[in-house]
Amino acid sequence: MAKQITDRVSWVGKIDWELKRFHGDELSTEHGSSYNSYLIKDEKTALIDTVWQPYDKEFVSRLKREIDLKEIDYIIMNHNEVDHSGALPELLREIPGTPIYCTKKGEAIIRGHYHEDWNIITVKTGDTLSLGKTTLTFIEAPMLHWPDTMFTYMDTDQILFSNDVFGQHFASESLYNDCVKECEVMYEAEKYYANIINLYSPMCARKVDELLKMNLPIKLICPSHGIIWKENPMDIVHRYQQWANGYQENQITIAYDTMWQSTRLMAEAIAEGIQKEDPTVTVKLFNVAHDDKNDILTEFFQSKAILVGSPTINNGYSFAVAGILEMARGMKLQNKKAAAFGSYGWGGNAPKMISDHLREAGLELVNDGIKKQWVPDEAALLECIEYGKDFAKQTK
Ligand code: FEO
Repeated sequence: MAKQITDRVSWVGKIDWELKRFHGDELSTEHGSSYNSYLIKDEKTALIDTVWQPYDKEFVSRLKREIDLKEIDYIIMNHNEVDHSGALPELLREIPGTPIYCTKKGEAIIRGHYHEDWNIITVKTGDTLSLGKTTLTFIEAPMLHWPDTMFTYMDTDQILFSNDVFGQHFASESLYNDCVKECEVMYEAEKYYANIINLYSPMCARKVDELLKMNLPIKLICPSHGIIWKENPMDIVHRYQQWANGYQENQITIAYDTMWQSTRLMAEAIAEGIQKEDPTVTVKLFNVAHDDKNDILTEFFQSKAILVGSPTINNGYSFAVAGILEMARGMKLQNKKAAAFGSYGWGGNAPKMISDHLREAGLELVNDGIKKQWVPDEAALLECIEYGKDFAKQTK
């Protein structure tokens, strides 16, 4: 069912309560998500974005309840990943020839995905489209997080349609941020940033600065996933400004895998040492084989330093540690210190190999790490505690 946002704008998207994995298996979405599409009715009518393909038929059916599809004059595609463009084929079967406004990169993506001879009009930053009283202004936002991304600003209603940027995978029957639990939605916004946008932080920082300098009056920020920012809408923009500029909190995250508990014992002893040295620091431990990898990456993003531990297995480190290291490399974490640790029976290469990987990923290694043979005894655990104290000192 459509939901009215302003006199001219209604939400016509899809709430996906069932979504638990996204981007294949790359991203956990424990709070579900939504694919937000917006209908603007003025003298002319524009539809902003569509929904993911599995929901294309119900999207078009519900849209028909709101409007005779032939009255849609323009389709605006702020970003063309399939979760937003997936219903275009179903929609354009009904209204072929309707112009689709997107960036030049957007055109390439639409043509590459759907191989249709649709009527595509490309736009650049500053281009406008009049709907009558309302004027839409387009603002390119390349690599946030795809090359085609743009924002659309609506002057009469002072709305920024920002697509993935400022979004969250968060299913809610209420549309607005003042109607949901703030801590839940803000966590999902940060998880979204850490896992999807952080890699592009330099571009994001520039775009947010540019947006702030434009000084646009903004009453609502309407992203393509999750809730609409209505109460203090610029808060999320300022959060993005912080997140894009080497964000860290006073937190140290320890991520480890363990075969027979020895590396876990080391992790806990190191945590004890950190806390003894600096009671103000938040220390969190995660078993990478069990805990959600996207939540761990979000904790990495929040941290000033991380420790990664693995037993030495087959002259290397564990499969689960390999996965989290590779994902951390892809995130391009900034402004973080790191070190490695692990238990071993023979060989003991894991900490060095993890250290090399962390260095290549752009983290600053504070030392060569620590390894302990077989099951750590009391003396070995005391060494781990001392190691934790030293790590806390070096990361203060
Ligand atoms: Fe929500 Fe990049 O698609």
